[in-house]
Amino acid sequence: MKEPVLTVRNLNSWYEEKQGFAFGKQRFTETKLTKRQVLHEVSFEMAEGEIVGLVGESGCGKSTLAKTILGMVKDKDGAVHIASGRPQMVFQDPYSSLNPAYKIGWILEEPLRLKGGYTKSRRQEKVMEMLARVGLSPEIAERYPRQLSGGQRQRVCIGVALMQQPGLLIADEAVSALDVTIQKQIIDLLLKPHEEMSLAILFISHDLRVVYRICDKVLIMKEGRIIESGTPQEIYFQPKEEYTRTLLEAAGIHIK
Ligand SMILES: Nc1ncnc2c1ncn2[C@@H]1O[C@H](COP(=O)(O)OP(=O)(O)O)[C@@H](O)[C@H]1O
Ligand SMILES: [Mg+2]
Repeated sequence: MKEPVLTVRNLNSWYEEKQGFAFGKQRFTETKLTKRQVLHEVSFEMAEGEIVGLVGESGCGKSTLAKTILGMVKDKDGAVHIASGRPQMVFQDPYSSLNPAYKIGWILEEPLRLKGGYTKSRRQEKVMEMLARVGLSPEIAERYPRQLSGGQRQRVCIGVALMQQPGLLIADEAVSALDVTIQKQIIDLLLKPHEEMSLAILFISHDLRVVYRICDKVLIMKEGRIIESGTPQEIYFQPKEEYTRTLLEAAGIHIK
């Protein structure tokens, strides 16, 4: 069997929090740093080309898991093993992940400049290819992020991610802020490289319907723990946990 693209074993992570204490009629306050554990013993694997859905209510630790996998949370223990290269990330708010000072062409070219080994004309050629691939017209290269719609911006973010030929993409609520019709287009756009280049996708979403449609495997997270995992059929038709049932019911999905 092939090596998994991502292996996560007994991952724990903590955030530091400032806590204020008031003494003697609040005349004297003291702040103290305390650690709060967000992830608890998270373990799972992702195979090449697999789409894994991560669902759970807001604040349960989904984004923290993504950040911890990417090495953006320093206080952690456990193991994260990524088979090849750095995973790429697509976020809910494409505006904040695009530098407003630069034109789209420049933004798409940046990963190639950083990587090196491309002539300027080859880079520009690749930018044009990528624009076509993510369904944007060539003149978009000359525009700034603020001159694009939300859907177009998310296409650019996906283009930037794909430029780096990742084996793994983490999409954190990547379509949650978009209209339903645009959502569908962006999901189709993510599914294309998934099929063409066996791109594995960790699809973080609170939309259980979308997850059911596109994922091979579903992880249910509650309070920083993966409490249940399985195929969409298992999770949606034979949920083991009461919490999973509650999530499904809240999404208007009724199981017998
Ligand atoms: N940078 C941070 N510092 C301290 N606490 C954080 C930070 N980011 C998130 N949290 C807290 O960690 C918990 C999990 O947050 P998050 O991973 O963003 O949840 P989700 O993505 O599932 O909505 C929440 O209680 C949140 O308030
Ligand atoms: Mg989140």
